[in-house]
Amino acid sequence: MNGTKKNYSVAVVAGDGIGPEVIAEAKKVAEAAASSEGASFEWVEYPFGAAHYLKTNEILPESALVEMGETDVMLLGAIGDPAVKPGILERGILLTLRFFFDQYVNLRPAMSLPNVPTPVPLTERMDSVVVRENTEDLYMGLGGVTQDGSCDLDMTLERGGYSLRGRLQLAMTPGMPFAAQVALNTKYGASRIARYACETAKKRGESRVTIVTKANAAPALYGFFEQVAKETIEAEYPQIEWDLANVDALCYHLVRKPTAYGVLLCPNLFGDIVSDLQAALAGGLGTAAGGNIGDGLSMFEPVHGSAPDIAGTGRANPIAAILSGALMLRHLGLDASAAKVEGAVSKYLAQTTKSGLPHEFGGEASCTEVGDFVLRHLD
Ligand code: NAD
Ligand code: IPM
Ligand code: MN
Repeated sequence: MNGTKKNYSVAVVAGDGIGPEVIAEAKKVAEAAASSEGASFEWVEYPFGAAHYLKTNEILPESALVEMGETDVMLLGAIGDPAVKPGILERGILLTLRFFFDQYVNLRPAMSLPNVPTPVPLTERMDSVVVRENTEDLYMGLGGVTQDGSCDLDMTLERGGYSLRGRLQLAMTPGMPFAAQVALNTKYGASRIARYACETAKKRGESRVTIVTKANAAPALYGFFEQVAKETIEAEYPQIEWDLANVDALCYHLVRKPTAYGVLLCPNLFGDIVSDLQAALAGGLGTAAGGNIGDGLSMFEPVHGSAPDIAGTGRANPIAAILSGALMLRHLGLDASAAKVEGAVSKYLAQTTKSGLPHEFGGEASCTEVGDFVLRHLD
């Protein structure tokens, strides 16, 4: 993307729970920051989420996907609501968007922020990043449940770079209910995310990528991911060294020393889990920004979900969404605006009294007040 275009169209799915609350703050801050670079946004709002689904039975029509594809970038709050069976909206909206636009990178920086209490004392700033493969692994959506002990599952799948055809026929003796979910990692998927992890390390001025694995328990699935990642790094990035961390031990080491890692290259499922752990270590899910990045439409969203337990109370922390807005600005080439937003978040947190912090960080500021504080610290 280049920074010469001055008006950008942004598809917005604010979604469920605290999604609309935090996205309102992210938009307000991004808009103010970008205006100083002479840039503006046309927000193209979409209603998809639980309320829309319960009212109309519509999840996410193909026509909307096509229309979204015409925009420059996308911003998403969160999807998921206790009134809808888990998976229907998360798969039907969030994962569909990631797969449809082939957003193969889920970039999730974990950074400690000034004045934000962390559960484990930090001896230095935490500045790490999860580079999560975002289209494969256990997330393929191939599977089913049987009550009678046999199943015949369709394994048909269309993805950005390939199509899959086939069936999985299984019979259990004695017949009993069981579930099967097929995970896949391809050379195509693992090598492109390994490349992105190396590029991320280079941008950070680092020479190490940690491949997060579990080849000891699932040698086919994760041994393959690990092997492809190693080969890609060795063949294409001689200046980058790889090391390996089993995901269980990684969690252990992270809690004991949250600053021990830089770039964590993760298969999809481990990246999901490790990014929540990293967020907690940095001070809370409200710190954690994210981007779903591909060669087409990219989508920026906080790591957290719809937080139904605090939705509507004003206690949601919008910083993760505001920082996701900064990632979006940088993606559009508005680097100065992005830096301005990140700087304003840091300045506000460094200068505020304890009560001016978001509830999540032990303060009393509402979601809107936090957005206003950040706005006031943009220079
Ligand atoms: P969650 O991330 O919504 O919440 C976990 C905990 O963190 C809750 O106690 C919540 O109150 C707190 N929290 C999260 N974000 C916060 C914020 N910005 N400020 C303050 N506190 C915050 O995870 P969950 O409870 O497992 O999921 C709730 C719903 O969200 C489910 O339907 C789930 O599928 C969905 N979900 C969606 C996304 C997404 O859209 N990207 C991500 C994760 C979960
Ligand atoms: C996330 C979420 C999603 C994921 C869910 C809601 C499908 O947890 O964005 O981290 O697992 O990727
Ligand atoms: Mn998650």
